[in-house]
Amino acid sequence: ETAPPVSAALAGKVIAISAGGTREPLDPVRFLGNRSSGRQGIALAKAALAAGASVRFIAAHMDLPAPAGVELSTASTAEQLHVAVTRAARGADVLIMSAAVADFRPAEYLGAKIKKSDDRADPVITLVRNPDILATLIAERAAEGPAGGLAPLVVGFAAETGDAESSVLEYGAAKLARKGCEMLVVNEVGENLTFGTDENTVTILFADGTEAVHAAGSKDQVAASVIDAVAVALETDAG
Ligand code: CTP
Ligand code: CA
Repeated sequence: ETAPPVSAALAGKVIAISAGGTREPLDPVRFLGNRSSGRQGIALAKAALAAGASVRFIAAHMDLPAPAGVELSTASTAEQLHVAVTRAARGADVLIMSAAVADFRPAEYLGAKIKKSDDRADPVITLVRNPDILATLIAERAAEGPAGGLAPLVVGFAAETGDAESSVLEYGAAKLARKGCEMLVVNEVGENLTFGTDENTVTILFADGTEAVHAAGSKDQVAASVIDAVAVALETDAG
């Protein structure tokens, strides 16, 4: 049974959320993947449902099951996720890209398992670039105009570390501009900030100049802050 919404901030809204991480196959038994668990995406879906939204959830290799009450689709590779996300974003009010998408995939897929044999040199894996799902969708949306129905509010996620050159937020602001999305949730990662735990420090950046929102805590707390920011942005647009 699905829990009833606890607020109506997103009543009548359709929110597409991608979660987890893609896998790029090398041969029938091996892949290039990443450690994304899907937990942040699950927390976002629960927060969106609690705010009264309908949720289209696109899952890529999550450690946990998708939450009850979502309209679920699945994808394995970045190319499959691209198709599924574009489909889900059509007619949606919001797209939140929390999935970790492999930037590259093996240039060729070998239909038979790669063997180690003494008479052959060690293999070299050549990679090619995957499509940038967010950037492509935003370019398509601009080309089609509002009649195309691609989500008018697109939220990206980025894990960043600062370095000698730029701060985390400078990198985040540059990525927001490069991607062209309306909001970017910048997760500060680094040596003394533990990766894979349930504690996060995020800053939500807005393309329209709205002042940045800071949030810290569990993935549930971060999700609540992101969904609040989405509700405010939708309200501002309507008003
Ligand atoms: N993303 C995407 N398609 C890709 C890669 C990333 O849609 N091929 C999305 C992610 O889901 C995320 C956002 O873009 O919402 C930022 O991802 P990130 O990996 O931080 O950005 P990149 O542009 O890939 O830059 P980087 O070189 O820092 O990895
Ligand atoms: Ca990337």
